[in-house]
Amino acid sequence: MKLVHISDIHLTCPGERMGGLDPHRRFTRALDEVRSKHQDADRIIITGDLTHWGEPDAYAALKGALVDLPCPVRLLVGNHDDRANFQAAFPDQPRDENCYVNYAEDLDSTRLIYLDTTGPHTHAGHFGADRIQWLEAQLQDCTHARLFMHHNVMTLGQPAEDKIALVEADRPAFADLLRKHVDKIDYLHFGHIHAICSGTYCGIPFASVRSTGNQSLPDFAETELLHGAPMEPSFAVIDVSEGTTVIHDIPFTWDGPVFSSGTGWDDWAKPVAAE
Ligand SMILES: [Fe+2]
Repeated sequence: MKLVHISDIHLTCPGERMGGLDPHRRFTRALDEVRSKHQDADRIIITGDLTHWGEPDAYAALKGALVDLPCPVRLLVGNHDDRANFQAAFPDQPRDENCYVNYAEDLDSTRLIYLDTTGPHTHAGHFGADRIQWLEAQLQDCTHARLFMHHNVMTLGQPAEDKIALVEADRPAFADLLRKHVDKIDYLHFGHIHAICSGTYCGIPFASVRSTGNQSLPDFAETELLHGAPMEPSFAVIDVSEGTTVIHDIPFTWDGPVFSSGTGWDDWAKPVAAE
């Protein structure tokens, strides 16, 4: 199973820039990379912040960009999204009985579970009792699961960033559910922090992915402000087979030199500099 994980594309109304760059061009380049090098992907999963301001025109642009792709695309919402505008633009998008963008599908004996961790007018994550109940039902009758979501459900040791993690009130129930199903949840995947971070939480491995726009700089002292920078973007390719997960970081905008070397090289002698 090969999954392309893209996040935080922050699309605007076409023509508007965001953070000094054109998010549409960046997203197009990411999709072009998928089209050219990952035709064998099984899913493209975009874990929220599909738009920056949540306007209908931004969602229309997203819809227009999702063409000629090698596999189905799964869309999640983030704190910058407007759930109503998203669902209006994508009326066929699955939703749970409470109209959250929570849904799941089975692929290669693994249940891919897509979570809606957003709340109205807050950048922090929310996943209250009604959503926990839905997730519990999804986990009950599967043997393997992989959770995709926008927000990190754990704190990461960065005080400012942690203010917009899953809210403290919702963390214990989520953690309890993870511990209860630790044997069947293979991985947690999220975006939101615009940086790569990996570890384990409640005994389950997790990994985040960069934004296709600007990146954030980890800061372990700052308590208020998030610091971003126009560093190279990337997305992730997740290869899953026979109990092994490999996550590749794909720097899709790199257009500088590429050096080649091979397995047959013999370079033990240090070259003598030409005089
Ligand atoms: Fe974001």
